[in-house]
Amino acid sequence: MSETLSLGDLIDMQIRQSGPMSLATYMGLCLTHPTRGYYRKTDPLGTKGDFITAPEISQTFGEVIGAWIADLYIQMDRPKRLTLLELGPGRGTLLADALRVATRASGFAAALDLKLFETNPVLIAMQREKLGNYNPHWIEDIEAIGGAPVIVLANEFFDALPIRQFVKRNSKWYERSVGLAEGKRSFGLSPTPYEEALIGEEFASAQNGEVAEIGLAAQQFMGHLARLVAPRGGAILALDYGHARTQPGETLQALSRHAPVDPLDQPGAADLTAHVDFQALGRAARMAGLTVHPLVEQGAFLSSLGLAERHAALAAANPHKAGALDTAFDRLTAADQMGALFKVLCASSPGLRPAGFAAP
Ligand SMILES: C[S@@+](CC[C@H](N)C(=O)[O-])C[C@H]1O[C@@H](n2cnc3c(N)ncnc32)[C@H](O)[C@@H]1O
Repeated sequence: MSETLSLGDLIDMQIRQSGPMSLATYMGLCLTHPTRGYYRKTDPLGTKGDFITAPEISQTFGEVIGAWIADLYIQMDRPKRLTLLELGPGRGTLLADALRVATRASGFAAALDLKLFETNPVLIAMQREKLGNYNPHWIEDIEAIGGAPVIVLANEFFDALPIRQFVKRNSKWYERSVGLAEGKRSFGLSPTPYEEALIGEEFASAQNGEVAEIGLAAQQFMGHLARLVAPRGGAILALDYGHARTQPGETLQALSRHAPVDPLDQPGAADLTAHVDFQALGRAARMAGLTVHPLVEQGAFLSSLGLAERHAALAAANPHKAGALDTAFDRLTAADQMGALFKVLCASSPGLRPAGFAAP
């Protein structure tokens, strides 16, 4: 395979050979193609990248999550060995901030077995630099988490997994595909319809023209993860943008340099994501035997963990940065910024009471 061919060229060749591909296949290639996928090549984060995430906005985000982890570790009776797994750790910032706090809990540092699940070699190098002191291990398969109790963190991980889309036409559902029309990449629909029962009863009242998005990869990943966590004991904390209930709607988006772009232009060069269906994700964890705590919005979650107090202390210690710190605080918590769109899901072993969640 020639290195001069772009991912777009390779996708177009495949479509010419085999016909249109499903949106999920297209999205998977764009994000994780082994040499040309978006999450295989560069650091996409930060003001110079394509988007910014909560841990990169303020250290307080990771710090309060560190306190959340420490509290859970104590509730779990301070196991001798505790695996802390982060899915898609980005630059390692969330863990660096969280571990600065969590390791203050007596016994935590000695118990810590840090595991990182990451595809991007550029980010792995940054994670090694930031987290090297904690002796992390990178795993390519979540089966490799070992046998100890485990706490899993996932911030903006599930939105990066491929989705399927179905469009309702004449009361039937057709899967959205990517094909070529007059040589140009374009969306199309599967020639044969899917039965309504296969799409899910949550979409039964959808009108013609509406779209059902199904995050099958995210649901399968969550199910697999939860089946690993259940016998070991522990919890999964997933923070992401998305909706609390399964509902029709189209949320696929492509971002490049902080601006929306056409998802079919420049495959592998823009971030492709979709909103997370938290109802479906929770169901996958529940089916594996975990307790799913009532979903909370990010603003409320961070506030209940003491973000405002931590922010005030940081601003008092750094008066010259108070304006920037205030802006960051608002960005994380305000309802018209990340506070309400982002939700927090926790699935844990029965009996654990993770901080920030009402009783199930
Ligand atoms: C949106 S970034 C979030 C990074 C980090 N959690 C943060 O909040 O800054 C998505 C992360 O998931 C990783 N990632 C995306 N798809 C992945 C996959 N299929 N397997 C493993 N890691 C993946 C990316 O390389 C990146 O680290």
